[in-house]
Parts: sequence; C-alpha cells; structure tokens
Amino acid sequence: MLKLAARTARAKPSAIMVIADTAKQLKAEGKDVVNFSIGVPNFLPGEHVYQAVRDWTQHDSGGYSTNRGIPALLDAITAHFAQSGLPGYKRENVTVGIGAKQVLYNLAEALLDEGDEIVFPAPYWTSYVDIADILGARATILPCPPAQHYKLTPAQLDRALASDPKVFLFNNPSNPTGMVYSRDEVAALAEVLVKHPNTWIIADDIYNRLIFDGIGYHNFVQFKPELRTRTFIMDSLSKTYGMPGWRMGMVAGPEAGVKALVTLNSNHITCLPEVVSQAAIAALTGSQAVPTAKCGDFSRRRDDVVRALEAIPGVRCPRPQGAFYAFPDISVAFGKSHKGRKIADDLDLCKALLDEKFVAMVPGSAFGEPRSLRISYTCAPAQLKKGLERIQQFFAELA
Ligand SMILES: Cc1ncc(COP(=O)(O)O)c(C=O)c1O
Repeated sequence: MLKLAARTARAKPSAIMVIADTAKQLKAEGKDVVNFSIGVPNFLPGEHVYQAVRDWTQHDSGGYSTNRGIPALLDAITAHFAQSGLPGYKRENVTVGIGAKQVLYNLAEALLDEGDEIVFPAPYWTSYVDIADILGARATILPCPPAQHYKLTPAQLDRALASDPKVFLFNNPSNPTGMVYSRDEVAALAEVLVKHPNTWIIADDIYNRLIFDGIGYHNFVQFKPELRTRTFIMDSLSKTYGMPGWRMGMVAGPEAGVKALVTLNSNHITCLPEVVSQAAIAALTGSQAVPTAKCGDFSRRRDDVVRALEAIPGVRCPRPQGAFYAFPDISVAFGKSHKGRKIADDLDLCKALLDEKFVAMVPGSAFGEPRSLRISYTCAPAQLKKGLERIQQFFAELA
C-alpha cells in the first residue's frame, strides 16, 4: 500500500482553527456567537497602504522578485528594526517569508536536524510544538505556571540550557498570555544566555509594537550585543499593521544564518509577491497612526477584560501588558457542573461555553497550560461586553 511520509502523521491541524471553525458553523446556523478564539487584529491598515498597492499595479511586472526580498523592502525592514531599538542590521542580515510562521518554519529547518533539542517556555504558541514535531526535533517545554505570571525565570533558563540544546525559542510579548517581559527581566535572561554559547536563539517578537503601560520593548541583544551572532529576531506585518492575510514576515539575524534562510526561500516560496512587498514598504515606512491608535485601544480593552474576569470568584487573570490576549486561570471550575454537565477540564469548559453561551475561546491545553484558556479580545466593544457578561453568567451558574 502506498504510504504518506511519516511526518504527515506527526502534523496536527491547528487546535485554534478547530474551535474557530465550530464557531463559524454555529454562526452560519444563525446562533449569536461571540468569537474570542482566533488571534486576528480585526482592523485594516492605513489608506496609504492601499494607495501604494493601487500605484504599484500601474507598472507591476507580474514577475518573480528576489529570494531575499527586494532591496527597497530590505531597507524598510532594517529601518523598522532600528526604530524598534535594534539598529545596525544591514540588508545581509534580513530576509522575508510568507508570514512569521513560514519564517519560523525556515528557521527550524535551518537550525534543527532530526533529534535535535529545541527549548521553549509554556504557555507557548501552538505552532512551536507542531513545527518541532513535523521536523522530528525534540521539544523541551519549560512550564511557567499562572503563579509565576507565565514568565520564564533566569534559573529555569539556566537549568534548561545546561544540556546545550540546539535552539532556545522565546516569545515576547506572549501569545497566548499577553505577558511582556520588563527591561530587567530581559536583561536577566540575557545574562544567562551569554553563559551558554552553544545554543541558537530565536526571539519571536511579532507583537513588539503592541505593548502597554509604557514598559517598552526589549530584546536580549540590546543588553548583550555579542548575542547578535546567534540570535534571530522575528517580526511580522500581521498583528501590528492589521495585515494577517497579506502574509509578510521578516527576520534579522547573523549573515550566514540569514543566507541559509534565503536559500530555503528559493526552494520553498521563491519570493514574496511584488504587490505584497509594496504594501509592506508602505506599512513599515508610512504613517504609524493606525498601529499606534490600535495599541491604545487594545490596552483599554485589556482593562475591561481583566476587570470582568477578576470579578468572577476564584478566577485569576495575570495582567496582560501586550498583544491582544488574556489568559485567565479558570481551574476553579474544574470538578463542578453546569446545568448537570460535568466540567472536568479546560476542554469541557470551552465546549460548554460554546454550546451553552455561544462564546468561543481556546482551551489552555492547546498552549501547554490546561489550567487556563485564551481570550482574544479584538472584537467590537459591544461584542466584547456581551461575551464577558456571558462568561460571568456561566460561572455564576456553576454548581
Ligand atoms: C507568537 C506568534 N508568532 C508567530 C505568528 C505567525 O504570524 P504570521 O501571521 O506573521 O505568520 C503568530 C500568529 O498568530 C504568533 O502569535
């Protein structure tokens, strides 16, 4: 019998998409669904992005562009990194991908052989495990429970790096928790990283322009510039610019490593479409009014979400300071029942909330933390209010 490659058995469909699809189906059946499940920013980029695209179509070549990215885009990317507090990267240090997800896949292919170890904290973005699984890498997961605000400590990192894993993968601000590491916390982790020179570092910083409360964005290389020779920093248009479907991700890192990514691009995707490149240049170099306004918006919604969740007896929500997610510890519900329906775990809870209250959320176990669930709060304010009220009602009905 003909067999598919073994890696296809290891590849799992995204847990988030399964919930989102069920929510869509219920909506199609006419149910009044509030969808807190999928991590989309729910806004559109500024008009200047569309204008750049319209202008470009007047003389679009329709051809292939370059594997690395067109020079004007590379310049826009290095300037963008510089504005984010990461100056000094040149065209040779950067490249693009079809979203940060594909950049990460390329990085994993470039850095990990089968059986190699990759280390990252939990809660984690679901694709970290899936990409490691597909490539046959060994994922070592460092649990960061709600009691430590879902954050990795220097001591944990030090212990994990003692075995010289091939890659350490770090996400700040975090999806799914919305946690942001402070300046001191990033500096302390950087101190540990310099002690372990045999490990590559991937910093998935795609939410770095969505940070609240004035705490600012920090990266290891700002504290320890020597880490630049083995650190890759990822960014994306998806969340900051309201452009998830445009599929443009970017990365800065050491020249030889980035060259390997360009070679992978030449085999996987050839190039970013020219029209997407033009949109990206406009987004990165044009007015930042839309992302700035949205960041303010999200921080106010964060306040509403935390207030509503903390008002539920027994629910604890470490205060997110970035991205657009909240990740409350809802384990107080486990072992209780809702209208006779037993709630044993996060999966039961999310299923019951969707069936009974039509609120879609992602169970924390999808992110390696089964005590919690993820709320993506970018929907319209009226929907947000409605969804939060329904969650409160659900918990009040638990017996
Ligand atoms: C932490 C994190 N990294 C990477 C990505 C991928 O983003 P992109 O849309 O650029 O592929 C996401 C998307 O949800 C994410 O949350």
